[in-house]
Amino acid sequence: MANILVTGGCGYIGSHTVVELLGDPSCQVTILDNLSNSKRSVLDRIERITSRRPGFVQADIRDGAALSRALGEIRPDAVIHFAGLKAVGESCQKPLEYYDNNVCGSLRLLEAMREHGVKNIVFSSSATVYGTPANPRIPETEPVKRGNSPYAQTKVDIEWMLEDWHRADSSVSVCILRYFNPVGAHQSGLMGEDPLGIPNNLMPYIAQVSVGRLPHLNIWGNDYPTPDGTCIRDYIHVVDLARGHMAALSHCLNRPGLYAYNLGAGRGISVQQIVDAYNAILEKPISYVYGPRRPGDIAEYYADATKAAEELGWRTEHGVEDIVRDTYRWQKANPEGYPGD
Ligand code: NAD
Ligand code: UFG
Repeated sequence: MANILVTGGCGYIGSHTVVELLGDPSCQVTILDNLSNSKRSVLDRIERITSRRPGFVQADIRDGAALSRALGEIRPDAVIHFAGLKAVGESCQKPLEYYDNNVCGSLRLLEAMREHGVKNIVFSSSATVYGTPANPRIPETEPVKRGNSPYAQTKVDIEWMLEDWHRADSSVSVCILRYFNPVGAHQSGLMGEDPLGIPNNLMPYIAQVSVGRLPHLNIWGNDYPTPDGTCIRDYIHVVDLARGHMAALSHCLNRPGLYAYNLGAGRGISVQQIVDAYNAILEKPISYVYGPRRPGDIAEYYADATKAAEELGWRTEHGVEDIVRDTYRWQKANPEGYPGD
């Protein structure tokens, strides 16, 4: 297919995407990652799954000189840009670090791409750019709003930076992907989500309770105006998400333009439904208690995923049962996550 640079490719979504890329024998892949939220041993796991080892450059996207060197040597056809900080709560405590890492880092990356004539980019955005939507089912025509956290605002800023670059140079091809809730793990049990410290997100929290690393789950709120009272999200299996990147990359390379797509399954699932589905596959169900609402949570939203289906020919293939089974398989085989530092 092509020669691809993957920033943040050692992370959760990036590593699953690298596996899909390497599954195409005509694809060359190099990861650029500073390992601030991932481990080098991910590379061994990628190699075990694909029998191919991606190139690896340990560098920070804020380091313009290192980026320029890497792009000059690799001469990629396209960049898939995952590198960034992603914790919504932490971004409220450390906004400047988030703007520096995500916005300044992305700016350095685009400058290096321009310097080396690299004109194709697929970018990891987030459904958070929609803020509080008018309706729970969100199409791409929903306006992008001022972010309701510094994290969300960094995604908005980067989207706008990419749009402006494309407007100034129409040969620059940009594919913005707005993820809903990525969950699950690779079917091999060799790769999955490995958060630092106590997880903030639902799925890794449940997974750690299921292997005894955490005592119980708190369900944040059961008094929402939803059928069972718990919040509804669009959980998307990470392998489906990775395949969405393959489709987006090929679109970006073959039909240069400016695109934005929702990547979600297009259906809402409640927290209670996720917990029940997870417990259904366990011999000893996880225990949970209902707690207060978590500040900032929206009762219900999910993707209108029609545009990605129509234009990219992509749709999700994994259901909730696959998500909970693959998550548990990964966590059980790797209770402490990836080996090494
Ligand atoms: P992750 O933390 O697992 O992966 C990000 C990777 O980027 C890590 O390997 C980290 O070491 C690296 N990185 C961070 N800052 C860097 C820098 N300055 N220079 C070089 N490398 C750097 O996160 P993820 O869940 O795989 O998310 C990937 C992307 O998708 C992020 O941009 C995130 O904001 C976005 N996203 C994630 C979710 C989600 O729920 N996981 C949802 C929407 C969007
Ligand atoms: N939840 C619990 N208990 C927990 C953790 C979460 O009940 O211990 C609930 C939350 O209250 C929420 C639901 O599970 O109702 C999902 O919460 P997550 O933290 O897993 O995910 P969010 O929907 O808050 O946000 C996630 C990512 C963002 C991303 C967004 C895109 O964290 O980075 O999806 O929709 F932008």
